[in-house]
Amino acid sequence: MNAPPQAPVPTGQELVEAILELRRGLNAVILAHYYQQGEIQDLADFVGDSLQLSQVAARTEAEVIVFAGVHFMAETAKILNPGRQVLLPDLEAGCSLADGCPPDAFRAFLDRHPGHAVVSYINCSAATKAMSDIICTSSNAVRVVDSIPRDRPVVFAPDRHLGAWVSRQLGRDLVLWPGSCEVHEQFSERRLVELKTLHPGAAVLAHPECTEALLRHADRIGSTTALLTFAGESRATDIIVLTEPGILHRMRRENPGKTFWTVPGADESCSCNECPYMKRNTLEKLYLCLRDRAPEIVVPEDLRVAALRPIERMLALG
Ligand code: 13P
Ligand code: SF4
Repeated sequence: MNAPPQAPVPTGQELVEAILELRRGLNAVILAHYYQQGEIQDLADFVGDSLQLSQVAARTEAEVIVFAGVHFMAETAKILNPGRQVLLPDLEAGCSLADGCPPDAFRAFLDRHPGHAVVSYINCSAATKAMSDIICTSSNAVRVVDSIPRDRPVVFAPDRHLGAWVSRQLGRDLVLWPGSCEVHEQFSERRLVELKTLHPGAAVLAHPECTEALLRHADRIGSTTALLTFAGESRATDIIVLTEPGILHRMRRENPGKTFWTVPGADESCSCNECPYMKRNTLEKLYLCLRDRAPEIVVPEDLRVAALRPIERMLALG
């Protein structure tokens, strides 16, 4: 027998109301990263950076966590709070850093560096986390690496730009896995310099996933939440932002008197400064995933337990 036809997906304000209705009915919580579309951020229960989102996911008592972000974030939520059903509106919402660190190759890399402490950025798969001693995010990477005794060599994966920045902050050599974020790596330095010339008083805020060449221009460097704080504190009225432009939604709302500028990518024929994975999520997919309770994130229990340990070590550092 054929399944009964589903009602069409509502549009406009009705779609927003239908999402909120489903959320109530399922006792769900919607968590969104700052890189999500503004309309998703506006109806989320909590919007934050990777660290904050994992902290909220770990302690929520909602039955269902809908993660408006990318796969590694939803997977981390499941690892931390396995009793909840975790949904990701689009399973293809990946991350070039996570995809660029396949577990087999990472294992072989670690075998070539015996005796090293392994620090992995949260932007990686559960399998990579399970091979790590401790996880970090962009907001605590310096503190996490600094928690390891100086005489112990450290492998840092998978973001070589974040790792290089941490290494410069601490004056400490790190063995870097050669991964990168395809979004932050390609901002155009030439266009940044042009913007700085056009707006000489502008403050430049940058995420540490950017290349060193770009970070050299930055007045402040930090996680998405740190950049939001810097935007509020800065006395500059023009602010140039070197991270995914989804963050501008919140920056503009919190700072109506300031003008925010994004930096185009080196290839100006595309909008490559937008994360194509984050932007796979839409209001319609959010509705469908609540309606169908799918796609669901599933993590085998032995892998979950192995990946949990290094995440808990990070959370214990505060
Ligand atoms: P945050 O740690 O600032 O949330 O960054 C996550 C991310 O994916 C940056 O590209
Ligand atoms: Fe991954 Fe980069 Fe997208 Fe962040 S912006 S989710 S690091 S691809």
